[in-house]
Order: sequence, then structure tokens, then C-alpha cells
Amino acid sequence: MNHPRPFSPELSQKIESFKSHAKPIKLGRIDFDNKLILAPMAGICNIPFRVLMEDLGAGGTVSELISCHGINYGNARTLDMLKIHPRERNVGIQLFGEDADSMAKAAEVAESYGPKFLDINMGCPVTKVVSKGGGSAMMKEVQKLAPLFEKMRSRMKVPLSIKIRTGWDANSLNAKEIINIAHNSGIEWVAIHGRTRTQQYTGLANWEFIEALNEDKKIPLIGNGDLHHPYGVSERLQKTGCDALMIARGALRNPFIFLESLDPTYASQKRSVFSGADYWEVIQRLHHYCSESFDEERTVLVQLRKLVVWFAAGFPHAAAMRGQIFATQTVDECMKIAEDYFLSLGGSQKFINYDEVFMSSGHG
Ligand SMILES: Cc1cc2nc3c(=O)[nH]c(=O)nc-3n(C[C@H](O)[C@H](O)[C@H](O)COP(=O)(O)O)c2cc1C
Repeated sequence: MNHPRPFSPELSQKIESFKSHAKPIKLGRIDFDNKLILAPMAGICNIPFRVLMEDLGAGGTVSELISCHGINYGNARTLDMLKIHPRERNVGIQLFGEDADSMAKAAEVAESYGPKFLDINMGCPVTKVVSKGGGSAMMKEVQKLAPLFEKMRSRMKVPLSIKIRTGWDANSLNAKEIINIAHNSGIEWVAIHGRTRTQQYTGLANWEFIEALNEDKKIPLIGNGDLHHPYGVSERLQKTGCDALMIARGALRNPFIFLESLDPTYASQKRSVFSGADYWEVIQRLHHYCSESFDEERTVLVQLRKLVVWFAAGFPHAAAMRGQIFATQTVDECMKIAEDYFLSLGGSQKFINYDEVFMSSGHG
């Protein structure tokens, strides 16, 4: 693995100045650089995106969900997903599955790849996963949880965490019961997305519910849901009883969200210091990480195209650029369009309409 080209002195100085507001935290046995963690996202939280977000201030990261059965069958593509970059310091691997034996066996394999922790996906609402008893369906069979947690822990040394929803539906908001089971079974912390499985991604994350869980908790809690912009994150940071916060979709339209949320005075101004030229540097670094992580040009192109388009959201003429980018067939073409576009932006500000629905499906 080669080192990426350093950021320019101007961008490095901006990054360092935001990072000076970061306070390291401890969740259970694990140290993180700050309270803002990149949430797991299928198809997105692979090595390039995770490393990039750590470079840009994420206090920690979690992989996309990885099938315990794929691991146990020795599926080459699944095993590839377990890999970690030498530059990653605060990464966890998220597993999904349903039965204790398969999860415990896979945990042992996943741990051998060197993550800082392992996490169980107990929030995925997707039918293919829940119909087998995995993801958020695990919240319906609470009697199975303690034996599963304990079996997994008996096969691993790094800490084990879980990521849940508020409950299966509005009539079964059982997050508190699950958090208690987790505490009694040696789980290190619980991350909670403030929606039920039935809600999928509709409505708003229920932060009142999350904050109420903080009142008599015995185990660290990470709150998650709808923290879409630095202002919202910073406001939540100041009033939350959560030990940390997780950000998913917000990082796709603003790769600087972790940095910009760290300084409350700056976040409250709702203006960004990051220019089109800064975005172009970030895209070049992403290109570097994609090229060293993926063997096939097509995979690099697919990953780059979607992130370039998301990063442009809210900048002038982003829609026209999106059309051009999706027509590209080579990485060079894609990078040329991105360069021309972002360098032409000068100091233009981003104006994202946060009321518009953005990515309303996912695996947690
Ligand atoms: C495209 C996408 C993929 C996701 N994949 C996962 C996943 O693999 N594991 C998981 O626990 N949650 C997954 N999630 C859920 C997010 O981690 C997070 O809980 C949810 O998006 C709410 O946070 P946000 O409002 O900051 O996006 C995914 C979400 C999206 C949008």
C-alpha cells in the first residue's frame, strides 16, 4: 500500500484546525478519536470510503454488513470484504446472520483480519435478511440473544457491540430490554437507529426515545438517525446523553461533516469553508484508495462515480455533471469531469435541501 499524496498545505491546515476541537473518547474498552462515528453502509463502507472518512475526522468507522454464512463458506468476495487497510486505526467489522454457531465461527475468522471490534447487525429491515431471522428480526426473538452473544464472545478477544433499531414496530419498542440483555452478556456498547423496522426509513428518527434510554443506562449508547448536516450534529452533540453519535447518509453529501461538526461555533454559522478545490483533493485521495483496493477498473469506476455525484449535491449545476459522470466508461474520463467541475466551483457554497428524501433504503 502506497501512502496517498499529502493534502495541500491549505486543506491540511483547515483539517488540522477542525481536528483540534476533537476530544478522544472511550466506549467500553475501545478508544476512539472523537464522538462521531461513521455508521455502517452496505456497498459504501468499504476500505476506500472508511479510510477517507478517518482522514476527514471520523472518530471511528464500521464496515458494511458481512454475511456470517459467506465467511463460513469461504466465499472469496465475502472474505475480501473483511480486509482492513493498514491506515485504519478505529474500524469495526459488522456481521449479520441468525444462528449462534455460525455467527461465533464467523466472528473468529473476522477477528483474524485485525478489526478493533466486531458488531452485530440487528437493525437490517430488508426482507431477504429478516425472513431468515437476521437483522432486525433478531429483536423479535429476545430469548435467543444472550446465548448468541455469549457464544460469539467465547470465540473472540476484541469487544463485541450491537446495532439495533427502537423495536420491530410501534407496538414492540423493546430496545431497552435488548440493551439490558446486551449489558448482562458483556456487549461493549449498543448503537441505536431511532426508527422501528416497520418504519424502514420513513418518518423521523425518534430522538426522544433514544435520549430516554440514556437516563438509566448501564452500557454506552451510540445514537443514530437523521444527523444530516454539521449544524444538526453539533446541536445534538451538545444536548445528547449518548456517549457517541453515528452518521451515515450525511457523510455521502458532505465528506467534511465530521470535521465541520466538531466546532460548534463554526457549525452554527451554516457556511462551509471547504471549496470546490478541496473537494477535488478529496476525490483524488478517494481515487488513490479505490485504485489500490480494487483490482478491476470497473469496480473503481462504479465506486468513484457514485461518490463524486453525491459529493457534488447542492453545488451549482450538479445535475448536469451527474449526467456526464454516469455516461463515463473509464476512470480517467470520470476523473477529468470531476476535476473540471469541482475546480470551476471556486468558493461556491453548497445548498442542500435537507427536506428532500435522500436514500430511503438501507441495511440497518
Ligand atoms: C445505503 C445504506 C446502507 C446501509 N447499510 C447498513 C449496514 O450495512 N449495516 C447497518 O447496520 N446499517 C446500515 N444502514 C443504516 C445506517 O447505518 C443508519 O443506521 C441509517 O442510515 C440512519 O442513519 P442516517 O440518518 O445518518 O443515515 C444503511 C443505510 C444506508 C442509507
